[in-house]
Amino acid sequence: MTRPVHKPSRRAAIKAGLAAGAGLAISNRLELFAEEVARQQELPLVTTVIPRTGERIPPVGLGTNRYSVNAPADIENLCNVLKTLTDRDGSVVDTARGYGRAEEVIGGCMTENGNRDEIFLVTKYTESNGRRRGSGGAPVDHMAQIELAFERLQTDMVDVMLVHEVGDAANLLPMLQELKATGRFRYVGVSTSSDRDYRDMAPFLSRGELDFLQVDYSIGNRSAEERMLPLALEQGTAVVCNLPFGGRRNSVLSEMGDAPLPGYAAEVDCTSWAQLYLKYLASHPAVTAVIPGTTKVEHAIDNNGATRGRMPDAAMRARIESTYAEIAGV
Ligand SMILES: NC(=O)c1ccc[n+]([C@@H]2O[C@H](COP(=O)([O-])OP(=O)(O)OC[C@H]3O[C@@H](n4cnc5c(N)ncnc54)[C@H](OP(=O)(O)O)[C@@H]3O)[C@@H](O)[C@H]2O)c1
Repeated sequence: MTRPVHKPSRRAAIKAGLAAGAGLAISNRLELFAEEVARQQELPLVTTVIPRTGERIPPVGLGTNRYSVNAPADIENLCNVLKTLTDRDGSVVDTARGYGRAEEVIGGCMTENGNRDEIFLVTKYTESNGRRRGSGGAPVDHMAQIELAFERLQTDMVDVMLVHEVGDAANLLPMLQELKATGRFRYVGVSTSSDRDYRDMAPFLSRGELDFLQVDYSIGNRSAEERMLPLALEQGTAVVCNLPFGGRRNSVLSEMGDAPLPGYAAEVDCTSWAQLYLKYLASHPAVTAVIPGTTKVEHAIDNNGATRGRMPDAAMRARIESTYAEIAGV
């Protein structure tokens, strides 16, 4: 018996052709990305200085406020992101007690990857994180709560411990300073992601009480430049920038839409908008590190490209600002 020959319809043939074309386009794009990445890896690594000690760190790290996952496949993916960071000479990892299971996930990944020593670990603690439900207002044992953070992170030393909420700083900073003296933390400070906190943050900065300040700073949100960054520079406080792309909604990068990267980006060895805007932040004289949040290996590789090659000078920073204003229409 002869089998009927199934001839694909014209529409199916066009669809198949398009899919093959798209597949080719994707594989070409990936090849191009791999070539760019390999070229960038050859460029010299940039480092910034922590003013209190002179220690040098690479300026682009990793934010982890979406690392509260449970599924083994999700954990494996995040471990790969963390490994990608250190494999490419990145080091700063920012997390917090307030990010659900993130500290636990990172602790597990560092043990699994064996890369704790390559990571400059920043975490945060605040009063409300230590408050037990139903404790009836009983005083919180902060020391015990902080010990739990070491357990979750599977380490006996945290590089930077920050008070997560400025309102709790007067109460918690002295305790963190004490723990720093015993060697459990190397640096302490305070973190915010809101302009509204700057007024309360300023006195801690002015009194020189912060080794580190973490503050929201992106090309689309530059209010930290007015008072926070100059004060930090004056006081020798290291600055870590959170929300470098404007947060989860990823507004700075989405605002660029399909706009092509300006030709001058090559003068500072950038091959993506993400790299250009990360270098913009990292080249501010007060900035020590930038912590773009990502859950994707490909984005971690892209972001890490901003730790290599030439950095923008003041004139280039002004150019980047104009380009952003023009495209974002601000
Ligand atoms: N008060 C505080 O102390 C405070 C407050 C907020 C945040 N933080 C810290 O700051 C970190 C950064 O903030 P954030 O994560 O909220 O916002 P963000 O870094 O400004 O932006 C993160 C977004 O950008 C995307 N992204 C990252 N790299 C990309 C790339 N190369 N190309 C395209 N998209 C890219 C991410 O998606 P993908 O996952 O898909 O890459 C995510 O949607 C946090 O993770 C946290 O550690 C601290």
